[in-house]
Amino acid sequence: MILVTGGLGYIGSHLVVDLLQDNQEVVILDNLSRSDITVLDNIQTITNKQPIFYNGCISNVSILQEILDNHDITHLMHLAGFKSVKEGEKYPELYWDNNVNKSITLFEYLVDRGLKNIIFSSSATVYAPSDEPLTEDSPTGPIPTYGSTKLFVEQILRKISEQNSRLKITILRYFNPIGQHQSGLLQDNGADNLYPNIKRALETNSALSVYGSDYPTKDGTCVRDYIDISDLTKYHKFFLTNSTPGCEVYNVGTGVGRSVLEIISEFSTLIYEFKDRRSGDVASLVCSVDKLKSIYKE
Ligand code: UD1
Repeated sequence: MILVTGGLGYIGSHLVVDLLQDNQEVVILDNLSRSDITVLDNIQTITNKQPIFYNGCISNVSILQEILDNHDITHLMHLAGFKSVKEGEKYPELYWDNNVNKSITLFEYLVDRGLKNIIFSSSATVYAPSDEPLTEDSPTGPIPTYGSTKLFVEQILRKISEQNSRLKITILRYFNPIGQHQSGLLQDNGADNLYPNIKRALETNSALSVYGSDYPTKDGTCVRDYIDISDLTKYHKFFLTNSTPGCEVYNVGTGVGRSVLEIISEFSTLIYEFKDRRSGDVASLVCSVDKLKSIYKE
């Protein structure tokens, strides 16, 4: 049985739907700090299945024990975490505590009690900025606190792997997940991310702010590797059954970089205006997907 932490968040909810529709047995653990309980009903509406849900923190060992008492948890998909770069800079202790300390408690508790497989949701933010496509061996060097917390958890997972040689650990470094379930019932409400802001601008007929027009890129706007959420969940499912003992890192993107203006051109009625660069943004983040493609089979 699979424990999905953060299962009511943007990525988590799409993943849970995909797993349930594949007849996988799933338990959701989410403390609703960055998600809404209505998502649970929406998952049920889409899948016609009643998801098993625990409202609690990933480091609450009494809830973890209750879950283990009630379910045979063999796999952990750990998606719970704070993900705002801006907020992480403002409240670094909060990010270190929530993303790192609590993850350590979660891993230790479950691994000591027989967990076999971990899939961890990491981020492209761990990489040092580069104009070249980033491979899993590219230098890391995150400036933002958020990225540092992800990288630190990766290092902890490597240590856990060294001490538990049969444990299968997969670290997925997401590039920019986008898109939403066809029902329209699940979405990304990211406070300042590009696609949610495009949606808001279209709905309110207001101008999208484009942060920066003088980057050293093809048209002066930032370039990112946008991956559809359905592909992202597909890769998670693949690693449920295709990971091997040890700890492996995979980039999860498309290998194709698109600029903000290229994205905007896909929305004919969208109006926009150039603004100053947003603090913390890098010109380009595009991945090499060679490692993922070398192992992934449909
Ligand atoms: C951000 C996070 C990243 C996280 C990802 C998905 C940073 C530095 N990184 O990535 O860790 O995994 O979100 O949650 O914040 N843009 C505009 N106008 C807008 C919004 C965005 O021009 O209204 C531009 C940004 O400047 C950027 C690009 O669009 O160049 C993508 O922005 P965004 O969707 O926020 O993602 P990232 O910043 O790449």
